[in-house]
Amino acid sequence: MNRTLALASTALALTVFAAHGSEERRPAAPIYGVELPADYQDWPLIAPAQEAAPLNELRVVVGNAVAMRAYRDGVRPFPDGTVLVKRAWKHVPSPDFAPASIPGDATTVQVMVKDAKRYAATGGWGYGRFVEGQPVDEAQHRTCHACHSARVKDRDYVFTHLAP
Ligand code: HEC
Repeated sequence: MNRTLALASTALALTVFAAHGSEERRPAAPIYGVELPADYQDWPLIAPAQEAAPLNELRVVVGNAVAMRAYRDGVRPFPDGTVLVKRAWKHVPSPDFAPASIPGDATTVQVMVKDAKRYAATGGWGYGRFVEGQPVDEAQHRTCHACHSARVKDRDYVFTHLAP
């Protein structure tokens, strides 16, 4: 390859990289700057959950590879890089068999990201809550750590156990 061609292809590669980079930038939650992970819909199950009235939601908590390893090995506090995601849907009776429940519309996706330094003021966790892919307001983000900290501080602020 001659020098001009080499320079041109480097410039092209940089342009492609920059375009790709900006595509990857996702809306971030207020206060914490937490983003919705791109591939959370493919993550493994930690446990299902359910909330009765008034929300009537079916939920699942899933984790990235760092989270799954910490759960399996019983490592606490969770290491930096742990990401936990709680997905939720309206809870509706199955049209095929009424006693069964199926997920209706998606309601919220909530995220916790462990970074002991960055989030030192909130036990090492950053929080994000998203509706239709967009972060909700700052006031809602102020409630997250208060509740997790009041109830499960002794479990590194995490409610969900690995389902047996
Ligand atoms: C009033 C209490 C309360 C508040 C406020 C709250 N959570 Fe939770 N959170 C829970 C409970 C209880 C669970 C366990 C799963 C379930 O029952 O839905 C949970 C679970 C989670 C999980 C899964 C990991 C775990 O701890 O089990 C994430 C992620 C999460 N919450 C994020 C958030 C975010 C983000 C906010 C703020 C926008 C928030 N939570 C506010 C009570 C709360």
